[in-house]
Amino acid sequence: MVAAKIVPSDDPDWVEEVENEAKRLDELQALQGDAIPTKIFAGQLHGGKERLLITNYVDGRRVDEVMVTTEVASNARKVLGLIHSAGYLHGDVNARNILAKKSGDVVFVDFGKAKKGSENAYQREREDLEIALR
Ligand SMILES: Nc1ncnc2c1ncn2[C@@H]1O[C@H](COP(=O)(O)OP(=O)(O)OP(=O)(O)O)[C@@H](O)[C@H]1O
Ligand SMILES: [Mg+2]
Repeated sequence: MVAAKIVPSDDPDWVEEVENEAKRLDELQALQGDAIPTKIFAGQLHGGKERLLITNYVDGRRVDEVMVTTEVASNARKVLGLIHSAGYLHGDVNARNILAKKSGDVVFVDFGKAKKGSENAYQREREDLEIALR
């Protein structure tokens, strides 16, 4: 199964987000398939009327829809740590963008706002995660 994000090409904000997401997933390739979705395809539809990003479908539930066990919380902190160690901020850490699998593994989705980070920004993002896990 796959997940497809389709946005109208005449909306510059959406286009920027989806293009940024495709680029960041490439840059975070080492984390793909485990901590973040695997990028399958980025391109256009209907003669360029829409932008398309296809990733693998993550079979998980948003952390605001499930009981956040200590294992899920710990895995979420690990994944965010991996993203930061790779030099990036996720950029939109909230419960809707954090999926927990039945196994307890955690996948962060939605890299539309991801960007290069700094230690202060990583710390703020770790605080965002604690709020998301409440
Ligand atoms: N690869 C995926 N596999 C499974 N579900 C996904 C995947 N990517 C995103 N989702 C689900 O779809 C929702 C919306 O995706 P995403 O966050 O990337 O889009 P968005 O336009 O930024 O939405 P939002 O405004 O809710 O953040 C996510 O909250 C998540 O629940
Ligand atoms: Mg989102």
